[in-house]
Amino acid sequence: MSLDKTLTFSRGLTLKNRVVMAPMTTKMSFYDGVVTQDELNYYSLRTGEVGAVITAAANVQDGGKGWEGELSVASDQFIPSLSRLASTIKRNGTKAILQLFHAGRMTDSTI
Ligand SMILES: Cc1cc2nc3c(=O)[nH]c(=O)nc-3n(C[C@H](O)[C@H](O)[C@H](O)COP(=O)(O)O)c2cc1C
Repeated sequence: MSLDKTLTFSRGLTLKNRVVMAPMTTKMSFYDGVVTQDELNYYSLRTGEVGAVITAAANVQDGGKGWEGELSVASDQFIPSLSRLASTIKRNGTKAILQLFHAGRMTDSTI
């Protein structure tokens, strides 16, 4: 099977090819989980050709944060930040997938 072929999921979303960037934590976000320009540059350098990019883990709750520099999706206040991230990744038809994450027993109340 060719990696160049499109891939359509059962709910209708189509990836333009079968190459997907795995989620890799870079610890580049601001202390409060807002995306940084360095982080946008990192994704910009890697997107555009692949079918989809899965972002680094993004904590779904303040109490679910696992490390400094983690991306946050804990409240609506992050929508502008996440929109910038999505637009950066969605260049040239690449799909943007946000990895939802809660660190569970690995959370650290000091961060
Ligand atoms: C620096 C680094 C950061 C990673 N961060 C995440 C992450 O945030 N979320 C996740 O699910 N996997 C993360 N991974 C795991 C990768 O997505 C991938 O699954 C792993 O490297 C195994 O890939 P492989 O099966 O091709 O060897 C990370 C891997 C590396 C090397």
